[in-house]
Amino acid sequence: MEKGALLYEGKAKRVYATNDEQIVWIEYKDSATAFNGEKKAEISGKGRLNNEITSIIFEKLKEKGIESHFIKRLSETEQLVKKVTIIPLETVVRNTAAGSFSARLGIEEGKPLRKPIVEFYYKDDALGDPLITDDHIEELQLASEAEREEIKEKALQVNAVLTELFAELGIRLIDFKLEFGKDASGNIVLADEVSPDTCRLWDAKTNAKLDKDVFRRDLGSLTEVYEIILTKLGGGQHV
Ligand code: C5P
Repeated sequence: MEKGALLYEGKAKRVYATNDEQIVWIEYKDSATAFNGEKKAEISGKGRLNNEITSIIFEKLKEKGIESHFIKRLSETEQLVKKVTIIPLETVVRNTAAGSFSARLGIEEGKPLRKPIVEFYYKDDALGDPLITDDHIEELQLASEAEREEIKEKALQVNAVLTELFAELGIRLIDFKLEFGKDASGNIVLADEVSPDTCRLWDAKTNAKLDKDVFRRDLGSLTEVYEIILTKLGGGQHV
């Protein structure tokens, strides 16, 4: 497989073409951003950690029958994935109140929710990724009703698998964000990444934060806590 031209550069990754039209080459960057890009830093090792953590998680999901765009990890910071057109929806699943949910609704961080809650945000940096309703999704033609329901169902399946996986490692999966894309045949495929950048992960005993909130809230070393997650997932030994 050959790495081709740069197709797209986002806040955390670069996407390159390959000699296969159906496959793209992803490079994880060391950049950390928060609050819609207002807070920024370069953190050496972050790209390597998220590349490996995401690779392990996508493999674990596949073992449980949940397909994603992931094909294989190529190097410390690179992976091959199926080319998809990203649907401009950020799908958030919450098990415990935290972050914007707590702020918006005045619910104390750490309060377990009665059942997992799925929310959709419109992926649009200029608008600050607003929370949107089913009717907004229809009005903006971001997804059909059937596609929206499929995304919701897949997100809840991912939640069930990852909640159990992390619980076995002594970690609480508080909430996370997923992105989905459409492949060449129009199938909806789980895409982007699943890492401590996109999940809230709390130590089950101490409730210590082991995710990007460490960076957002200046709580300590991001790479130290990401390294804990990687090690618990069984990665990291070979690097
Ligand atoms: O900020 P908020 O509480 O809405 O975030 C919910 C979850 O979605 C968190 O795990 C956060 O890391 C993730 N998220 C993300 N990318 C965004 C917004 C939120 O990965 N643009």
